[in-house]
Amino acid sequence: MPFIRFILSAIVGGILLGTLAANAQAPAALTGRVTSAQEATMEGVLVSAKREGTTITTTVVTNAEGRYAFPADRLQPGKYTISIRAVGYILEGPKSVEVPAAGATADLRLNRARNIHLQLSNAEWIASLPGTDREKQFLTGCTGCHTLQRLFTAQHDVDEWIQVFNRMGRYYPGSTPAQPQLLVSGGERSERPRVDPKVAQAAAQFLVDVSLSNPEAKEYDFKPLPRPKGRATRVIITEYDLPRKNAYPHDVVVDADGQAWYSDFGSQIMGVLDPKTGKVIDYDIPVVRPEQPKGTLDLQLDRDGNVWIAMMYQSAIAKMDRATRKLTVFPYPKEWWGPTTQASMVAPRFSHVDGKVWSNNQETREYYRLDLATGKFENTGKAVDKNGRQISAYGIPTDHDNNMYLLEFSGTSIGRRDAKTLEVEIWRTPFPNSRPRRGGVDHQNRLWFAEYHGGIAMFDPKTKTIKEWMTPTKWDNPYGVVAARNGEVWTGSMHTDLVTRLFPDTDDMVQYLLPRTTNIRRVFLEETGPRPTLWVGSNHGASIVRVETLD
Ligand code: HEC
Repeated sequence: MPFIRFILSAIVGGILLGTLAANAQAPAALTGRVTSAQEATMEGVLVSAKREGTTITTTVVTNAEGRYAFPADRLQPGKYTISIRAVGYILEGPKSVEVPAAGATADLRLNRARNIHLQLSNAEWIASLPGTDREKQFLTGCTGCHTLQRLFTAQHDVDEWIQVFNRMGRYYPGSTPAQPQLLVSGGERSERPRVDPKVAQAAAQFLVDVSLSNPEAKEYDFKPLPRPKGRATRVIITEYDLPRKNAYPHDVVVDADGQAWYSDFGSQIMGVLDPKTGKVIDYDIPVVRPEQPKGTLDLQLDRDGNVWIAMMYQSAIAKMDRATRKLTVFPYPKEWWGPTTQASMVAPRFSHVDGKVWSNNQETREYYRLDLATGKFENTGKAVDKNGRQISAYGIPTDHDNNMYLLEFSGTSIGRRDAKTLEVEIWRTPFPNSRPRRGGVDHQNRLWFAEYHGGIAMFDPKTKTIKEWMTPTKWDNPYGVVAARNGEVWTGSMHTDLVTRLFPDTDDMVQYLLPRTTNIRRVFLEETGPRPTLWVGSNHGASIVRVETLD
């Protein structure tokens, strides 16, 4: 018996070794060096290839020798359009390459970009501008609906800027310049200006002083971020274009069948992408309140794989049945509707514990629960602790007992509402002005969350303490955080196009650059392969993005 086992393992081992060796030597589908007149060896250049007639773009990054390689199984034979991302450079050529079955080589030549300001990310813009962090902080409220470019080429005086701020404050948050939607006035949300009136005058003067269209503008140098290096180049990124140009994929989650679902922040649509084929199916979501802005935000799976969605100003949540793909809408009771009722979040992840799905109303800062057995909502009221302190949440992730966490985007605290007693406890984050945003619990029931003005944070319910990690890039402004079973933790930035991988045990962080302006919101990890795979939506780019690390 032992002998047979030895032979068997030798055979299996031999096969395994054989495949590993073959992989190591496998000819790349496309490989080459990237050079420019300024830099003979260019590490950290993102090289993207998109096959003619398809909606899928694959990106790899040059290594320390300036070499890039698309693995053989990543590009089918065909004609590919090549593009690059390397701030300060543009691609001279070749801009398209024929890839035969045997693979191809293409050395790429880059030229210095003449208009570097057109390439800067939001974070690079903010970092470049003169002024203190405090003076510049209002700009992090201007990136939800468009990039900052238009602010610095505009020709407004102070009074006009104040009007612009007020106009921006009247748009629904899921607006874009191509698809603006006005809030229905009357509620506190629609009245709230995008820039605090106390700082509006100074903010307006600031924008006048830095505009590239102002001949008297202050002088300042552009400060692009360094290109990726070392481990940050060991990544393959795949972008799947969505069929609708105005798709606004706010949240992306992958189900147990490997299908990537997305919520659309600007339309009554939820869609599902098959990453194997790139095919997308869009499902219409009924309109509940025709006068209100259209669009959805939070998208979550329950334990059975049903997809839940929060319907924002439509004042409802909805559930897509996994098996039948039938959508059931649960409107909030009409008597609860206000002029700006906003269901931004839905939390079904642990609803199997007590048969309840949490959701919120941003207008009144009340928290609702849907009873799955009766289909009825219960209003658990505002979240006030025993000292009378109220916390109003953006993200409302739930824990293993279906208690609801409250992440205070407008402040510096997190809270937790007990599912049984409805009591609220509140804890302050160590970072000042942290602005907790979204997150979720890991398999150990610890809460991981993003701090918009901080970084990655973890609340341990056993010790009731919060640990924080500042991401290494300034103006990163993380939106969401997700932890993997293997211990690593990920976040994405609305401003740098960087996704961050944290190893909490060693405090090491690696930041991977995405190929295009992405404005990352929700981050999600698919954990079926050898390493967790990150999925995000390109909010202003109408695509779904997958990030696979190579080590
Ligand atoms: C809720 C979405 C939203 C936010 C947030 C937002 N904008 Fe806009 N912005 C728009 C839309 C939609 C347009 C195009 C329609 C228009 O010009 O009103 C636009 C256009 C602009 C323009 C070009 C038009 C012009 O009048 O010059 C500027 C400049 C601008 N925004 C500045 C800002 C500033 C500054 C902030 C932050 C204080 C901001 N935006 C935040 C939605 C938004």
